[in-house]
Amino acid sequence: MTILHLRRARTSLVLDARGPGLPRVVHWGGDVGDLDADALRQLTDATVPPVVPSSFDEPPALSLLPEASAGWSGRPGLVGHRDGRDWSTAFQLDGLDVDQPSDAPARVTVRASDRAAGLGLTIEITLDPYGLLTIRHRLRNDGDGAYEVQGLTPVLPVPAVATELLDLTGRWCRERSPQRHPWQHGAWAREGRHGRTGHDATLLLVAGTAGFGFGHGEVWAVHTAWSGDHVTVAERRPTGESTLGGGELLAPGEIRLAPGEEYDTPLLYAVWSDVGLDGLSDVLHAHLRARPGHPRSPRPVTLNVWEAVYFDHDLDRLRALADRAAHLGVERFVLDDGWFRGRRDDTAGLGDWYVDESVWPDGLQPLIDHVTGQGLQFGLWVEPEMVNPDSDLFRAHPDWLLAVPGRLPPAWRNQQVLDLGRPEAYDHVLERLDALLRDHPGISYLKWDHNRDLTEAGHHGRPGVHGQTLAVYRLLDELRRRHPGVEIESCSSGGARVDLAILARTDRVWASDCNDALERLSIQRWTGLLLPPELIGTHIGPERSHTTHRVHDLGFRAATALFGHHGIEWDIASISAAEQTELAAWVALHKRLRPLLHAGRVVRVDHPDPAVWAHGVVDHDTTRAVYAVATLATSVAQTPGAVRLPGLDPARRYRVRAVAGVPAPATIERSAAPWLASGVTLSGAALARVGVQLPALHPEQSLVLEVDEVG
Ligand code: DGJ
Repeated sequence: MTILHLRRARTSLVLDARGPGLPRVVHWGGDVGDLDADALRQLTDATVPPVVPSSFDEPPALSLLPEASAGWSGRPGLVGHRDGRDWSTAFQLDGLDVDQPSDAPARVTVRASDRAAGLGLTIEITLDPYGLLTIRHRLRNDGDGAYEVQGLTPVLPVPAVATELLDLTGRWCRERSPQRHPWQHGAWAREGRHGRTGHDATLLLVAGTAGFGFGHGEVWAVHTAWSGDHVTVAERRPTGESTLGGGELLAPGEIRLAPGEEYDTPLLYAVWSDVGLDGLSDVLHAHLRARPGHPRSPRPVTLNVWEAVYFDHDLDRLRALADRAAHLGVERFVLDDGWFRGRRDDTAGLGDWYVDESVWPDGLQPLIDHVTGQGLQFGLWVEPEMVNPDSDLFRAHPDWLLAVPGRLPPAWRNQQVLDLGRPEAYDHVLERLDALLRDHPGISYLKWDHNRDLTEAGHHGRPGVHGQTLAVYRLLDELRRRHPGVEIESCSSGGARVDLAILARTDRVWASDCNDALERLSIQRWTGLLLPPELIGTHIGPERSHTTHRVHDLGFRAATALFGHHGIEWDIASISAAEQTELAAWVALHKRLRPLLHAGRVVRVDHPDPAVWAHGVVDHDTTRAVYAVATLATSVAQTPGAVRLPGLDPARRYRVRAVAGVPAPATIERSAAPWLASGVTLSGAALARVGVQLPALHPEQSLVLEVDEVG
């Protein structure tokens, strides 16, 4: 065995795999250079902790699966037992498979076993060309009798210089709220027991050097790619170790491995940067964009009719919306909730995936034909995992629920969850979705919703979230196999199912049900830490937000929705001629800019005044960029200070001007910055280090700036 050094982009992972125990992680973080065997041995020696008084006589060895037998007294990597025995392990290294091709991810498979405990362990590690690390543990029951897994959590060590933690929390309509604090002794565990990823899911748990920001500081982060119950955890021990990790949260008895059976953890994604949070996003976005299944076509500008009509489905009204949408430049029309049997409001119908003949006497085809005839794609809303007790499906199969015997879980939006771990329920849902798509070849998009937590989610008397999560993945995979041309959106009461496992089988997420542009600025900024803009649905809502009742002008709403997978969620049939003209201009602007917005590097500005936010996208050859500056509130200062525009080539010169084609915010006439009328030419260094003064915008306004290299 050996000391392994995986290097990709600017990241190194060094593992002491000389045995006999599991490999010790010597280093995860910045590249340590091209080290020969002797240099690796010396690095390994240099990182062995000292033996201190009142402690173990051997230094502890922290592996990707921490064990008490290796001197670890923190949260164990494996919690499990075989009828009360085999509860502590000492895995021995059996072998390593190492594959480090120059043009593909480096891969290491660690094979280990604890013969006394009757367990086998495989650890799969990849380091992709951008520096993104993934880890997965697979546990095998090699013994006699069932082995119960209560927790299996990969972890990575983080050096002591990381002294602050940042993670995200939230609720319906307020997803991805950042929270930040010093990293002190103890465990900071972000647990989600929603049976879905959760509005409060952190997306990333970040540890970093003091004061790290979007553009500065050294940061380490992990993401737990799982759409069921999960934990993402940072632990700092008084013994000196700090770790980041994540895995599935398992209920008692949920995973009982029969002899020969295996349990796989979710993938733990891990990423490092020494240029702040934007550097984390660089790696994650590059990784996602390189996937063979990443959406490659221009993201169609979407009209979703939910906030325009809610459950009030009327063919003529919907046709009129489609006509207006086509006129404005929209490219996809999505018919939301309310089209299926009995679904006149949210109390009934879920599960009955047949077109409601009382509302749609000729079926959906007349609308689909009308929409596609206008050159728009047609999308349809579904919520396949759910059932209303007031539905034919429930009346026929009241036992097809995730529930504890003898009682129904507490109702939530009047609905319950189908147990897709039951083959008959799974087959029924697959058949219905498949039939819908086969009967309506014009449907090229599904908005896949999931509007409640899984509560007391029992499957034949045992915990069922794990099985349900895998069944949903199977369902999506099978449907995609049968209908490869259909795109799928992951929606879950807004942004409650945003994770990299669901995104391996869907094409975008609905970040939030809140279309208030002010709230959206924050929701999108923090969702964008993990996901590139083209995977985040961003829609222009009505003037008065339906969820917050704030009123915003169209410019602010449109500039906020400009950068992502752009769309409209507003009753555009009833808007004024002036609004139509302006909206069409924003849609045209988005289409002109989207090749840049959906491929370039995302930058977020660390501006000292919390009332001013700026962000942008810079193309990879740094010849062009688009930035938006938004005022979130009034500023304490008369002027909030120049806004720096980072990410450009310091040596090249750029023309900066207000973006052409859409009206500037109303206040600019009165209080323009002197340069704004004709633009200004500055070097990339001056833009990043000095920046530009802004007009005195009113609160809740945005200015979009276009930046082009000048020859
Ligand atoms: C919740 C979603 O997030 C909304 O966009 C909408 O589709 C409703 N469900 C429909 O019931």
